[in-house]
Amino acid sequence: MSPGHAAAAVAVLASGEGSNLQALLDAAARGELGGEIRLVISDRAQAPALARAREAGIAVRFIDPATHATRAAYGATLQRSLEEAGIELVVLAGFMRILDPRLVEDYAGRMLNIHPSLLPRHRGLHTHRRALEAGDRLHGATVHFVIPALDAGPGVAQFRIAVQPWDSEASLAARVRLGEHALYPRVVRWVLEGRIAWEAGEVRFDGRRLRTPLVLSCDGLAFRSAAA
Ligand code: GRF
Repeated sequence: MSPGHAAAAVAVLASGEGSNLQALLDAAARGELGGEIRLVISDRAQAPALARAREAGIAVRFIDPATHATRAAYGATLQRSLEEAGIELVVLAGFMRILDPRLVEDYAGRMLNIHPSLLPRHRGLHTHRRALEAGDRLHGATVHFVIPALDAGPGVAQFRIAVQPWDSEASLAARVRLGEHALYPRVVRWVLEGRIAWEAGEVRFDGRRLRTPLVLSCDGLAFRSAAA
């Protein structure tokens, strides 16, 4: 991204509840996102995420999978919407659709996703259940740059929690979700500011190669980052 750019245009893609979208909208309203959420796109007309965006006065677009015969056709419509709105950064926040590889490649380094596990553990669905079944002692969420392979792009930052003996799928989901809300706006801001970038196959933070994702840990209600 271009550091110092006053209002980089961000699009958020969301299929569901949109609690991460809400965290991003709230950060933007506080002037803490470093950019402007210009467009929210969903593949579900009734997604609560779209209602949240409308409530915040953001332009929304429902792109109907049923009217697109192929993933490539869906990707082309999506890309047109992004280009028409002059979008510089695409933020996936619970977008439950695999994107066309061409679109992903065109937005390499300009598309982020958040996944509810400590990647590379537990790609795909049901991550909280799988973390419990595997007896993981640590769990959390990962923000990564998006590549065509699902949940496999280079990790940028993680939020980690200790799994407790009494944890259930629901309790893990709730704690991870809260952490996501702290993590995602911060990472988006750093990308928009140019502090985080994915260039020539390397994720860089403040110009230095990031060998492992930044970690945001939860200490009571205070969030600390090893890097900030
Ligand atoms: C989050 O758990 C995120 O990690 C995953 O999808 C979920 C979206 O939740 N990619 P919400 O719609 O933001 O509440």
